[in-house]
Amino acid sequence: MPRSTIPKTGRAHDQIMAELDAGMADDADFRGGRTFSLVYWAGDHHHKLVAAAHDRYVAHNALNPMAFPGLKQMENQVVAMSASLLNAPAQAAGTMSSGGTESILLAVKTWRDRARKRRPWVRRPNLVGPATIHPAFAKAGHLFDVALHLVPTDTDGIFDPDRLAARVDRNTVMAVCSAPQYVHGVVDPIPQVADRMVARGVPLHVDACFGGFIQPWLERLGVEMPVWDFRVPGVMSISADLHKFGYTAKGASVLLYRDVSTLRHQFFVSTDWAGGLYASPGLAGTRPGGPIAAAWASLQGMGQDGYLDRARVALDAVNRLRAGIRQIPELRLLGRPHSVIATWAAAEDGQGRRAVDIYAVADLLHAKGWSVDRQQRPPSMHNTVTAANAPVIDAYLDDLRASVAAVRADPSLSRSGEAAVYGTMARVPLRGLVKRNVLDMMEKMYGPQGEMPDLSGDGGGIAPWQQRLLDATEPLLDATRRLRTRLGTRIGRGVR
Ligand SMILES: Cc1ncc(COP(=O)(O)O)c(C=O)c1O
Repeated sequence: MPRSTIPKTGRAHDQIMAELDAGMADDADFRGGRTFSLVYWAGDHHHKLVAAAHDRYVAHNALNPMAFPGLKQMENQVVAMSASLLNAPAQAAGTMSSGGTESILLAVKTWRDRARKRRPWVRRPNLVGPATIHPAFAKAGHLFDVALHLVPTDTDGIFDPDRLAARVDRNTVMAVCSAPQYVHGVVDPIPQVADRMVARGVPLHVDACFGGFIQPWLERLGVEMPVWDFRVPGVMSISADLHKFGYTAKGASVLLYRDVSTLRHQFFVSTDWAGGLYASPGLAGTRPGGPIAAAWASLQGMGQDGYLDRARVALDAVNRLRAGIRQIPELRLLGRPHSVIATWAAAEDGQGRRAVDIYAVADLLHAKGWSVDRQQRPPSMHNTVTAANAPVIDAYLDDLRASVAAVRADPSLSRSGEAAVYGTMARVPLRGLVKRNVLDMMEKMYGPQGEMPDLSGDGGGIAPWQQRLLDATEPLLDATRRLRTRLGTRIGRGVR
């Protein structure tokens, strides 16, 4: 975006709105069901209600509940409705936040501060969890100086609870599991982990940012999964996003604690400021009223029946998608069918050779207008399925089959477009190098020129020297891969 100035005089509103509309021309088509994450779309009728509620409270500020008691009451009700959905006990309490990441940051800060208060010897706090927990925990660790002690999972996202428990030490302030984790859609073995954490006096936080408002309905529809909410005695806090399967406006999540006494460790109070006493429940100062009102309206407008209906449609759609993927011999499904996520990777032969380059498949899908979500360990594709995707599952499967066949027929597709970049990034063992490249791209995007990175075409951001380094390390990596396969130490191949 070129630098510009604020217009000297205000422009006509219809012009401004027309420009806002025009700005959407190249956006991913979520209304047409062609995105499989990022947007949780419940249709125009529901959207209108949410947007109107958001609009009604767009100027309100929830920082001062005394000034806007109605808004505070709505927040209380959203928290209470969420607590009841997640089987929280009567003494549970919590707040809303701006999204999953803020809820996670707050949970980590809260448990760290509580540990410091109760166990003053905790100098270098850590949390334990499987490697599949969301990167928001790494962000929290970075911001709040909490080390992450992560245990590996197999390619299906499964880990050993005993191994997790073995990572607990005197500085452990919390354990984390997910319901489900985003990568494979697996609900972690929460009862087993909780048992082990109770024995060690470590609070278990469940990240249900993705699943908080879908798993309860899936359970009612008969989907089998581990019990994961407050019914499990060792689960001490849960984060759950309303702006995902709560189908509300972006900027809404809840963070719940089993016991109200934990909540105070989340708060920040300053008594010394010249401007007076200052108290804030979350990370932000000003708290927008819109997302709170919209979340309240969304829960009221959808009702239990509405959520259940949408979950039923999404479940049927994800099952059709999984069944279609199972019919494609070059692909395999990863994870467990606990949720509405389908994650697929390339099938492998006994030597660990992949039947197809799925990043090249992703490029072709993208060219056909699908918004794709590439994952790296192993190279895999993620599909979060909502009711909005239901009408296009067959069209997606047609395009998927055609794309797999095209890549099989022309392996050179792996060396062009984004496939080259993602393939390289996934293979580069030096993560510092990858990080540097990503930082460079971000600097371009958010720098004065506001450039969008061009991942297509030659190189795609990979410098020639980096490519040479990769070429030099590739044979070594291949040999290691083959050796691990032969020794059978490769954890969980995950073919289903
Ligand atoms: C399991 C899980 N946790 C946390 C988050 C982070 O949520 P947000 O993007 O709202 O910050 C996500 C987002 O997809 C998620 O799937």
